[in-house]
Amino acid sequence: MNTSTDYVVETCNLSKSYGAVQAVQDVNFKLSSNEVVGLLGDNGAGKTTLIRMISGAEKPTGGQIMLRGEPVEMQSPRDAMRAGIETIHQYNSTVGTMSVAENIFLGREMLAGRIGNFGILRRSEMRRLAEASLGNVGFHLRSPDAQVGELSGGQRQGVAIARALQFQSKIMILDEPTNHISVKETNNVIDFTKNLPNRGYSGIFISHNLGHVFDCCSRIVVMSRGRIVADEKSEALTISKIESLL
Ligand SMILES: Nc1ncnc2c1ncn2[C@@H]1O[C@H](COP(=O)(O)OP(=O)(O)O)[C@@H](O)[C@H]1O
Ligand SMILES: [Mg+2]
Repeated sequence: MNTSTDYVVETCNLSKSYGAVQAVQDVNFKLSSNEVVGLLGDNGAGKTTLIRMISGAEKPTGGQIMLRGEPVEMQSPRDAMRAGIETIHQYNSTVGTMSVAENIFLGREMLAGRIGNFGILRRSEMRRLAEASLGNVGFHLRSPDAQVGELSGGQRQGVAIARALQFQSKIMILDEPTNHISVKETNNVIDFTKNLPNRGYSGIFISHNLGHVFDCCSRIVVMSRGRIVADEKSEALTISKIESLL
């Protein structure tokens, strides 16, 4: 039996309402270290709202989030990032008008020093690290100086993943990361997700592709109308059982 400090993330009766809409209701979700949990549910089930609360983007209207056994009140995604939680959003959050390397280090630029209020950026170091972390997740780009707006959806997803890895976040949340990307790029994202535990990470993986979820996840949580309706080891579930719960 796990004790609460074994969980890297735990929610206790976590709830979020938007006016009359109860998007998430009394959710007790747990994530252990070195596991990837699949989060499933029909559109509108509350998956994105749940992970947006865990990633500091949305404030709960009820309940509590615990990180490594400690209650937290996150005010922004920056608080979650500081706690080692990195999110690859459903709608990619890279900045099209900036280069690959700039995106990977956005908000966390490496400085060589300061002149007055201006930081001196370590550009070549950032370019080198950007290239290395992209290669590390199986994405190879022409140049770390390429504008992100010129990349394919899958390459942009690669940049978002490389950005997350660059900062050694220990908890990776992936909200439908394979939407609108090619088969080959999808395979990269799936391989990356499957291997998270080998890199010492834990993950929450949201996808409508049940095959991908069974491939990547050792445990599956199913949500319906804001509530958890199943939480089982993957071996204990079948596709038809899940479909009957959605
Ligand atoms: N910012 C918002 N304002 C109002 N309602 C929202 C907002 N975000 C989500 N909802 C509602 O909350 C419910 C859950 O949505 P969401 O978490 O996006 O589900 P999922 O990711 O499972 O498709 C839906 O009914 C949705 O319309
Ligand atoms: Mg969603």
